[in-house]
Amino acid sequence: MTSVLESTPPRFTPDEVAAIGAELFGLQGEARDLGSERDQTFLVGDGVLKISNLGEDAAVLDLEAKALAHIERVDPELPVARLLGSTTLDGPDGTHFVRLFERRHGHHGGPELSDGALRDYGVTHARLARALRGFFHPAAGRELLWDLAHALDLRAHTALVGRRALVDAVLDRYEERVVPRWPLLPAQIVHGDLNLDNVLLDEHGRISAILDFGDVMHSARVGDLAVAVASLMRGRPRGDVFRAARLAVDGYTSRSPLEPDELEVLGDLVATRLAAIVTISAWRVSRYPENAAYIQSWDDDSWALLELWREDPGRWSRELGAARPVVPRAELARRRDAAMGALLTRLTYDEPVHVARGEGVWLIEPDGRRLLDAYNNVPVVGHCHPRVTEAVVRQTRTLNTHARYLYEPLVELSERLLATMPGFDTVMLVNSGSEANDLAWRIARGVTGNDGALITEHAYHGVTDAIADVSPEEWPPGFSPTHVVRVAPDLAEIAIDRPLAATFLDAGLTSDGIRPASAERAQALARATRDAGGIFVADEVQVGHGRSGLDLWAYRALGIEPDVVTLGKPMGNGYPVAALVTRRELVERFPFARTVFSTFGGNPVAARAALTVLDVIEDERLVENAARIGSLLRDRIAALGLEVRAFGLLVGVQLESAERAREVVNALRRDGVLVGRTGPNDDVLKIRPPLVLGEEHVEILVAALERAL
Ligand SMILES: Cc1ncc(COP(=O)(O)O)c(C=O)c1O
Repeated sequence: MTSVLESTPPRFTPDEVAAIGAELFGLQGEARDLGSERDQTFLVGDGVLKISNLGEDAAVLDLEAKALAHIERVDPELPVARLLGSTTLDGPDGTHFVRLFERRHGHHGGPELSDGALRDYGVTHARLARALRGFFHPAAGRELLWDLAHALDLRAHTALVGRRALVDAVLDRYEERVVPRWPLLPAQIVHGDLNLDNVLLDEHGRISAILDFGDVMHSARVGDLAVAVASLMRGRPRGDVFRAARLAVDGYTSRSPLEPDELEVLGDLVATRLAAIVTISAWRVSRYPENAAYIQSWDDDSWALLELWREDPGRWSRELGAARPVVPRAELARRRDAAMGALLTRLTYDEPVHVARGEGVWLIEPDGRRLLDAYNNVPVVGHCHPRVTEAVVRQTRTLNTHARYLYEPLVELSERLLATMPGFDTVMLVNSGSEANDLAWRIARGVTGNDGALITEHAYHGVTDAIADVSPEEWPPGFSPTHVVRVAPDLAEIAIDRPLAATFLDAGLTSDGIRPASAERAQALARATRDAGGIFVADEVQVGHGRSGLDLWAYRALGIEPDVVTLGKPMGNGYPVAALVTRRELVERFPFARTVFSTFGGNPVAARAALTVLDVIEDERLVENAARIGSLLRDRIAALGLEVRAFGLLVGVQLESAERAREVVNALRRDGVLVGRTGPNDDVLKIRPPLVLGEEHVEILVAALERAL
């Protein structure tokens, strides 16, 4: 593995090299030694002459030549120094390979690099790695001691290192944290040594030449990045090293995102690279004391960084991208209280849920325990659905702006929604169900000139000032706004005693205890609303997006023709996006038409998320699944002898008291199943899982419910 590093470097004098350059390549002028670890590199006239070490393998030089040619083809703008010719030379010790490279201009840089130059360094590095991604060569499997894949082999040489314990500690951490992950890291043929000595910079500090491909090899690309990052950190004030490193990583990831495993090990790999520098340096100085000045040129800066590492090794992982450590649950709850206090809603369950990840119908605690999520309707297509997350990330990388500019996702989403709602022609995109309902209320008041509201007894429609008035579920004791009329959840007796602006109906009557409206009663409510001069708002924030199992939109299944439909919660599977859908003739009577704007409303990322959710609902046939699994769940719960009401996958289980419901909910939580409570008496179990719930999950849920009861 160390043959090249072990062989004696060639020893031609500048005069000899000038003569060689003239004879082999017709170069004119003197030869100036540029320094090299294991070869000899000279500037001769307008070319760079490289005389290889006798230990060099022809196959490796072919690898270098082919890699250069490949890069030139794939990304011709990359400033690599081109190979102009190659031949052999008989010297006193044997036959050397001699290559002539294009001379490129620029200066060497160091810690004075500007922030822009750091970012640009990362960008160029990522482009270089991308250009090599599809390249293959059999010699790339060679083993180099510099390859961080083999960092543990450095142990053979650490006895020679002054501060050996520090290097050993770096290698111990490498062994513990990097070795198990190494096989998972994306690997390819990489440059292998894009440190500041191997590039030249232009007057703006941008890379104008990538010089030395002598370390090209197949390795983890994050190791290749770590080499550059370590170099960019060197020589900077302690307080600046991580900031500088992060800017370079930003540049890199702007072209080539890193995977979580790569971010997890980046900090450790940078430290390992520094350990490799001081170790290989100590070893080589012991063999070539005459070349000590060149060999040790990086040592002081590397040691300074290693001393910083010694103070807090974990900091390198935190500062350079890895996830932050998990805070113990009790401490997190205490800090939550301290920082947010009384305004933030209480935590659910006696034993609060601390979640680290989500996946499909599962929420996963930091210790890996999986909780069946039968409560949350937002992740309608399942927690962290890969297609939605990817769509959000991709769109975030590409463009995110506001609706005063033209971009496709906003328009596509609006058209897509309208195509599912015949009779409607106007969409307004906002950020939450509350905002959608608030806008509906403003339109209703503006259009009708009335101020009466009709809602169900214990409704919930949102948090804004106006919508809190129509959300009795959250009313404080004694609060009862005079403009609000309430009907009982069975919608039987509708008495409207004042000029009506709007009726809001959540067809699942979720907060009234899950008492789904019948088609007949819902239609009667819509008629009564119109007779009273009001507009009818179908609040599909809960029951939309297929939850009813009847249709994408519950109002359609109930045969009502609302004036306004509001959407939210599941619309972006967790990305904040909501909408109001209505008819143009109504909006045109609204005094604020054409002036309604919401900064984030319908931004490209939100719109892309919402479009993708609609795609997944279709592709995975989730409306049908909600119907099938919803009725299975209802039947299985009914078989336990319980009173159950269901609207697709919105399922309410009537228990005898709030206390009983509280106990059951907490017992289920302890057993790993999450459900909630609802209804005016808080005595109804609220089961409202992602629509990807399957039969196997129904079995888990029902078994746990039986145990809890
Ligand atoms: C029926 C209904 N409408 C509106 C809202 C308000 O939505 P948001 O919390 O996104 O403002 C909710 C929230 O639970 C809801 O259940």
